[in-house]
Amino acid sequence: MSIETLRAHWGFTRTPFTKELAPSMLFGSRSHEEALARITWIISERALGVITGEVGAGKTVAARAATAALDGSRHTLIYLPNPVIGARGIYAEIVRALGESPRFHTAQLIAQAREALEAEETERGRRVILIFDEAHMLSAEQLEQLRMLTNSEMDSRAAFACLLLGQPTLRKRLRQAAFAALDQRIALRCAIEGMDTAETGAYIAHHLRLAGREDTIFSDDAIALIAEVSRGLPRQINNLSTQTLIAAYAQKKSICDERSAQAAVAEIAAE
Ligand SMILES: Nc1ncnc2c1ncn2[C@@H]1O[C@H](COP(=O)(O)OP(=O)(O)OP(=O)(O)O)[C@@H](O)[C@H]1O
Ligand SMILES: [Mg+2]
Repeated sequence: MSIETLRAHWGFTRTPFTKELAPSMLFGSRSHEEALARITWIISERALGVITGEVGAGKTVAARAATAALDGSRHTLIYLPNPVIGARGIYAEIVRALGESPRFHTAQLIAQAREALEAEETERGRRVILIFDEAHMLSAEQLEQLRMLTNSEMDSRAAFACLLLGQPTLRKRLRQAAFAALDQRIALRCAIEGMDTAETGAYIAHHLRLAGREDTIFSDDAIALIAEVSRGLPRQINNLSTQTLIAAYAQKKSICDERSAQAAVAEIAAE
């Protein structure tokens, strides 16, 4: 079935539950708002912070929203989406993002990255925000490099703000003895939790409203089932809600009821 058919059936002006949402269109769940406030604090304090959450909890979205709100002329965002770049890769990316070309010898490259990070704030008046996404996959060597990078002799604080985003295993990993020095530098930890049933209902209504439907389309028991199965995690709610809309359409209904949601759960379990 096409998206067009679905849109026509439900009278949507745009497709609901898509991933590309402008920061202003995000749903302000308690967890999301809390993460935003904490990320903003980490940036203003040039601190090291760790944001954890299950797959699809909204970590990347929260970091995007917090950084989108910043004055672009006074901040430099360095976003590293994936740790597979290796230990040297971290320094090379930082140097490149700050407009230089990476030096060949690793020791020189490290010094170059440190200097470039310092200069961005002291000479250009721009605060650097370094974001490591999927940080639960950072290697031991990369975590050690990160410790050295956030260690500044001049200041008890680093020259930049640093944010680690990762799955809950990241916290456990950092608690291992080998990473104690880095762990102690972490000024703030925040876990993005799933939403409860009431918030899940409000989240679904928010997405439907963005698609042009102000009225109730999902029954309370459909919402309760989606909340339970998704454990309140936004990406999973999106998937289940879309499948529920499809199932209700196939069942020729104008309301998504519990049976439609059950069909959606079966559909997703079969994937
Ligand atoms: N506050 C929100 N408002 C609206 N949609 C949201 C919100 N938070 C998350 N989402 C939706 O959930 C999806 C998953 O969010 P996100 O990609 O940030 O999760 P993640 O925690 O980074 O997951 P992963 O561990 O897979 O990287 C987003 O694509 C978005 O569609
Ligand atoms: Mg992510």
